[in-house]
Parts: sequence; structure tokens; C-alpha cells
Amino acid sequence: MMVETSIFGVRFNNQRIDLKRCVPAFFSTYRTVFTVFWIAAVATIFLWQSTIGDGFFFLQRGSARPLPRLRPAVFNLTDFGAVGDGVTLNTKAFEKAILAISKLRTKGGGQLNVPAGRWLTAPFNLTSHLTLFLDEGAVILGIQDEKYWPLMPPLPSYGYGREHIGPRYGSLIHGQNLRDVVITGHNGTISGQGKTWWKKYRQKLLNHTRGPLVQIMWSRDILISNITLRDSPFWTLHPYDCKNITIRNVTILAPVHDAPNTDGIDPDSCEDMLIEDCYISVGDDGIAIKSGWDQYGIAYGQPSKNIRIRNVVLQSMVSAGISIGSEMSGGVSGITVENVVVWNSRRGVRIKTAPGRGGYVQDITYRNLTLDTVRVGIVIKTDYNEHPDEGYDPKALPVLKDISFTSIHGQGVRVPVRMHGSKDIPVRNVTFKDMSVGITYKKKHIFQCAFVHGRVIGTIFPAPCDNLDRYDERQRLIKHSASQNATDIDYDF
Ligand SMILES: *[C@@H]1O[C@H](CO)[C@@H](O)[C@H](O)[C@H]1NC(C)=O
Ligand SMILES: *[C@@H]1O[C@H](CO)[C@@H](O)[C@H](O)[C@H]1NC(C)=O
Ligand SMILES: *[C@@H]1O[C@H](CO)[C@@H](O)[C@H](O)[C@H]1NC(C)=O
Ligand SMILES: *[C@@H]1O[C@H](CO)[C@@H](O)[C@H](O)[C@H]1NC(C)=O
Ligand SMILES: *[C@@H]1O[C@H](CO)[C@@H](O)[C@H](O)[C@H]1NC(C)=O
Ligand SMILES: *[C@@H]1O[C@H](CO)[C@@H](O)[C@H](O)[C@H]1NC(C)=O
Ligand SMILES: *[C@@H]1O[C@H](CO)[C@@H](O)[C@H](O)[C@H]1NC(C)=O
Ligand SMILES: *[C@@H]1O[C@H](CO)[C@@H](O)[C@H](O)[C@H]1NC(C)=O
Ligand SMILES: *[C@@H]1O[C@H](CO)[C@@H](O)[C@H](O)[C@H]1NC(C)=O
Ligand SMILES: *[C@@H]1O[C@H](CO)[C@@H](O)[C@H](O)[C@H]1NC(C)=O
Repeated sequence: MMVETSIFGVRFNNQRIDLKRCVPAFFSTYRTVFTVFWIAAVATIFLWQSTIGDGFFFLQRGSARPLPRLRPAVFNLTDFGAVGDGVTLNTKAFEKAILAISKLRTKGGGQLNVPAGRWLTAPFNLTSHLTLFLDEGAVILGIQDEKYWPLMPPLPSYGYGREHIGPRYGSLIHGQNLRDVVITGHNGTISGQGKTWWKKYRQKLLNHTRGPLVQIMWSRDILISNITLRDSPFWTLHPYDCKNITIRNVTILAPVHDAPNTDGIDPDSCEDMLIEDCYISVGDDGIAIKSGWDQYGIAYGQPSKNIRIRNVVLQSMVSAGISIGSEMSGGVSGITVENVVVWNSRRGVRIKTAPGRGGYVQDITYRNLTLDTVRVGIVIKTDYNEHPDEGYDPKALPVLKDISFTSIHGQGVRVPVRMHGSKDIPVRNVTFKDMSVGITYKKKHIFQCAFVHGRVIGTIFPAPCDNLDRYDERQRLIKHSASQNATDIDYDF
């Protein structure tokens, strides 16, 4: 069952790379004759290969690179009877492969290679010490018929399916209580084929909350890298109450319109997490850091903390590039967002909460954000009045404080800042330093504040609201704000 890439296959693929390199040689006459002979030779081998079937397949869609061996034992999905024709249901093959790997946990686990092809499957569970490797051209396709999707109890910190009372659909790729799991590849794809789900959701044909694409719960030491996730039925990648997760060099795609709730990544009650070098363009928030909501989230009491997001490009026409909340009842702290670009989006970065949530959002650092063509750049909103049920405590007021914005730039922004605290939920200790954002409307009140306490350091463009204290570049106080509670919010533009 161990996989060996055939020597012939490797050699053959090297020749294919050489062919690409040789194309410019056509333009240098002294090499042309040689090139013509060379191509004829390659064509001969090509035709010969195509007559033996498998080789032709390999040339057509196989990877140009040999697959790395990342675990002591390596399996090929086809060893378990899988057929990558986009029609055959391969759930059993995935389950058998993962069962085999689950038996190797004391031997360093195993790697499951998914070759090029379209591998239709129903939801399946991962195991510890597993590396799922998606080769170039490999696509895992989620079956669209919800009958195949198992129902699971609601998440404890949500107390609710999230869209419907009671159980919810599980995720296409799921894991609970795991350790040391890697999902990686040569940019292979996991597709949720969400279109049918989005349509049924809009037509109110579903009785349960839609499932995420990948959901990993109560686990640690997780690495997701070098793959593409697309068209999730619901949130795309949902780590829940996990520790030590790295998401690196991942592309996440869904249509930017009419793909409801297709958030890119939702770190939820997670600790020690790194998201870097990703491209995310989806139908809801690009990244949304959460920790449960209202009485359920408060009771569960598991914060999201120590999360770093860097070198990420995001697009969200419906919501925001990076959000915190609105589910934040377990608390959110120690978040760093840096070297991030949000383009062609409704909002850049957003913190959203409401009375009833309790919890806190604090110690949040944004550094080097580029906002390119967005309606509202920075948003803080404290009246996001969506609740699981009537059982929430309206007196459970969240705390919002210690939030800093440094090096905020960009162009084509309508309202650079809208920080809407309230008497009950003031926004405290906000700092702005080094900000210059190109605006689309030369209106006066485009740096909008209400119940915001904090300061600006140095020159800020556009001119900040009067709620903030002014300091010079050397951090000397120039002017104390006399109106921290003043309201200058205008939703009309
Ligand atoms: C997996 O097996 C299939 C069928 O035998 C083969 O075409 C493919 O090259 C193998 N993939 C890897 C990565 O070994
Ligand atoms: C995956 O494991 C969970 C927890 O044990 C279980 O509820 C779920 O039904 C399993 N899913 C599948 C597809 O087997
Ligand atoms: C990102 O993933 C792609 C596709 O797998 C790979 O070619 C590229 O080298 C990766 N980049 C980094 C920095 O790892
Ligand atoms: C990976 O594939 C996606 C979707 O096909 C593509 O948009 C992306 O550019 C690829 N990433 C790399 C690093 O090649
Ligand atoms: C939803 O429930 C209704 C009424 O019980 C039932 O007729 C329908 O088939 C269910 N739909 C799904 C997708 O389960
Ligand atoms: C975190 O997980 C990675 C695997 O993704 C592992 O290599 C590393 O040792 C873990 N770090 C800690 C502190 O456990
Ligand atoms: C991603 O792919 C690149 C190129 O193959 C490789 O160098 C790198 O180690 C991979 N990164 C991860 C985190 O798997
Ligand atoms: C700011 O972020 C951009 C990418 O968004 C990056 O190219 C640039 O190098 C970063 N600047 C600094 C000073 O880190
Ligand atoms: C205000 O927030 C900054 C971080 O943005 C923190 O370093 C500072 O200690 C806070 N000030 C107070 C008075 O809490
Ligand atoms: C501003 O509102 C807070 C309550 O959020 C109150 O404690 C404070 O006294 C008010 N300050 C001024 C200057 O009115």
C-alpha cells in the first residue's frame, strides 16, 4: 500500500517542463531545426503513452512535482477503491484510509495522498497524526444531498444550530479531540459545492443549520496549508475550541454575492493561532474571530486569544475583511492583525457586539492595513441585535477596550472610521497613529465616533473626530477631548 512514484512518471514529467522552457527557442532561428526534431520526439512518446492509458492520464492531469513524504507511512486514496470521476461516492474509501491511519498513531501516523481527479464524498471524520495531501488537480467534492450529512448536537457556546433550533449538519471534513493533523498539498481543492445549499437556504427548504466545509473541534497542533477551499455550504474553515493552529498559504473562495454565510475562517474560542499568506474572497466575513454568544457563550467561557493574522488579502462585498464578533461572549483578546489588504469590499475591519453578549474585546492591534476601495474602513458597532433566543441577559454588557490602529492607508474609502459605542457599551482606550486614507467623498464627518475614548498620535487623515485626545508625534498631549460621548454617526453615507 506504500506509494512509490514511478521513475518513468518522474522522468516523463521533467520532459514536459522542458517543453515549456523550449517554446521561446522558436524565436531563435539557429535552434529551430533542433526544436522541431525535439518536439517530434516528444510527440512520439506522447502518442505511445496515450495508447497505454494510465500514462496519458498522468501527463494530462498529474502533478509536475513528486509528492513529499511527510509521514512514515504513505497511502494513496485509490488503494482503498476510490474513483475520481466526480460521480462515484468515495466516502467508504476515505473512511477506510483514515481507519488504517488511525491504527498507526504510535508509529508517527500516516499520509493520505489524494491524486488528481474529482473525488465525490459524503462527510467524513479525520483522525490524529494524519496528513491529508491534495495533489495538484485533486478536488474533494462534498455531496449536495443533505440526506448524507449527519446531524450533530449544537455547539455548546451557541446553544442552537445557529440558524435553526436543535441539531445542525456536521461539516464535510470533520474532527474532534484530535492532535497533530495536517491538511496540505500542491494546491488541491476541497469544494463544498455550496450552490445547492445556498439556494435551499434562501428558499427556506432546510430544517437545520448548514454545515461548514472543514470543522475541527477540541483539538490541537493543526496545520492547514497550500490548498484551496471553496464554495462551502456555510462557514468555510471553523476551528472550535482548539489550540495551536496554523493556517498558511491557503486560498478560500466563494462567490462574493449570493453565497450566504460563507465566512472564510472563523477562529472560535481558539488559542495560539496563526493565519498567514492567505487569499480570501467570500460571500460573508473573510475572517471572523468568535467565542460563542449570549448566555451560552458566557457559560461556556472559552475565549479566543493570542491570534495573529498577517500577510493576508481579503475581499468581502457583503460584510468585512476581518471581523471580531458578533459572537464574542467568551471574550476575545491578544489579537494582532498586520500587513493586511482589504479590497473591493463593504468594510475593512469590524468589531461587532451587542447588549446581552457579555464578554470582552480587548488588546487588539491593527498594524499596516491597506484599504483599497471599501465603503467603510474601520467599524465598531455595539448594537448587533441578533440573539439565539429570548433567554439572554440584556444587562450582560461587553467591554471594548485597548484597541490600536497603526499605519492605516489606502484609497477609495467612503467612510474611513465609524466607531459607534453607546452609553452602556463605550469604546475605551482606542489609539490611532500614522493614518492616511484616500477618500471618495470630501464630506466633513467621515471619521465618525460615538462614546469613544482614546487618542490620536501625530497627523491623521482624514481629520479625526473630537472624541479623541490629540497628541503630537512625540506623544505630548496637545488637546484633551471635551466630548468623548459626543455622537457623530451618519449611516446615510
Ligand atoms: C495513486 O494511484 C493512482 C492509480 O494507481 C495513480 O494513478 C496515481 O499516480 C497514484 N498517486 C500517487 C500520488 O501515488
Ligand atoms: C464524526 O464524529 C462525530 C463525533 O464522534 C460524530 O458525531 C459524527 O457523526 C461523525 N461523522 C461522521 C461522518 O462519521
Ligand atoms: C503556496 O502554495 C503553492 C501551491 O501549493 C506553492 O506553489 C507555493 O510554493 C506556496 N508558497 C509558499 C510560500 O509556501
Ligand atoms: C491555488 O488555486 C487557486 C484556485 O484554483 C488559485 O486561485 C490560486 O492562485 C492557486 N494558488 C497558488 C499559490 O498557485
Ligand atoms: C423539513 O421538514 C419538513 C416537514 O417535516 C419535511 O417535509 C422536509 O422534507 C424537511 N426538509 C429537509 C431538507 O429535511
Ligand atoms: C504546534 O503544532 C505544530 C504542528 O502544526 C507542531 O509542530 C508544534 O510543535 C506545536 N507547538 C506546540 C507548542 O505544541
Ligand atoms: C507549501 O508548499 C511549498 C512548496 O511546495 C513548500 O516549500 C512548503 O513547505 C509548504 N508549506 C507548508 C506549510 O506545508
Ligand atoms: C505592509 O503590508 C504590505 C502588504 O499588505 C507589505 O507589502 C508591506 O511590506 C508592509 N509594510 C511593512 C512596513 O511591513
Ligand atoms: C491602552 O491600550 C494600549 C494598547 O493599545 C495599552 O498598551 C495601554 O496600556 C492601554 N492604556 C491603559 C490606560 O489601559
Ligand atoms: C460619558 O459617558 C459615560 C458612560 O458611558 C459616563 O460615565 C461619563 O460620565 C460621560 N462623560 C461625560 C463627559 O459626559
